[in-house]
Amino acid sequence: MNRDELVRIANAMVAKGKGILAADESSGTIKKRFDAIGVESTEDNRRDYREMLFRSNEAMKNNISGVILFDETIRQKAKDDTPLAKIIADAGSLPGIKVDKGVKPLFGCPNETITEGLDGLGERLVEYRKLGARFAKWRAVIDIAAGTPPIPSHTAIHTNAHALARYAAICQENDIVPIVEPEVLMDGAHDIDTCAHVTEWVLKTQFQELFYQRVMLEGIVLKPNMVISGKKNAKRASPEEVAEKTVTCLKNCVPGAVAGIAFLSGGQADEEATEHLDLINKLGPLPWPVTFSYGRALQHLPQKMWSGKAENAAAAQRAFAHRARMNGLASQGQWKQDLERVEKAA
Ligand code: 13P
Repeated sequence: MNRDELVRIANAMVAKGKGILAADESSGTIKKRFDAIGVESTEDNRRDYREMLFRSNEAMKNNISGVILFDETIRQKAKDDTPLAKIIADAGSLPGIKVDKGVKPLFGCPNETITEGLDGLGERLVEYRKLGARFAKWRAVIDIAAGTPPIPSHTAIHTNAHALARYAAICQENDIVPIVEPEVLMDGAHDIDTCAHVTEWVLKTQFQELFYQRVMLEGIVLKPNMVISGKKNAKRASPEEVAEKTVTCLKNCVPGAVAGIAFLSGGQADEEATEHLDLINKLGPLPWPVTFSYGRALQHLPQKMWSGKAENAAAAQRAFAHRARMNGLASQGQWKQDLERVEKAA
């Protein structure tokens, strides 16, 4: 393990004004996204779409510190034969790789899941590093639901935290910075205080497990959910309450040694995800850099504008650069609603 290299990479991932593009949709998820814009999910279309994003120089150079790739993408070459990972690196950004193998039923715990993918992980990381990856991602999924017993269970939280910590230790041993992503879903009908309670439970368990696995916190990036009402809750909390409860929760759970925090968007609307990040940073100074690692909230509009047509690429790249810039400002608490309107009118 090269400690200095891990710290250097982790710090670069959360560099000032920058955040991470999560473009690691699995084959099933990217098909869903392409279905929504009427594009067939072929290997070439997936390549063309992602090449369009990675060649968006303005966004990549100014606001995107790293890109999380799916296994297929890190092996793909652009139309001119340049590996996609090299296009990312040439723009001054870091290629990363999703290494979990998705969620499977957690036996004994109906309707809960465990993320798998630890077997052979060390060998896979050696290959991914040769292909250009400098960081990795593993996502655990914790749901919230009423019932007897209620979800999440102690078992789901502990089992997932243990797997995430094992993954993180294996990454560091292979000089790859782990993004540690224990996602509490916002899909339910729960209120914000329930989300705060579950998120605190999940994060406290997570850092205990990271300690047991001897993970070096200066060489990880935490990718949490924000503390937010469930989407189906009739009385959703205000942006100010989301920011305040998120900061309180993180300060209670995340050691200051952690290199940085990069939120997932989790199904928030594009501007909502930006506003929340901005308000969180406006409550600073915080003990860590706090930025974005968005999938949907960065790609939603560019995807729609592209719609599978090469002639739409420039407009889609402008839309991507705009969202990346807005989130870059939000990561410094410098975003303003007016900037959205001015740039839309331009
Ligand atoms: P979303 O921002 O769309 O939640 O995706 C981020 C991610 O990488 C989920 O694992």
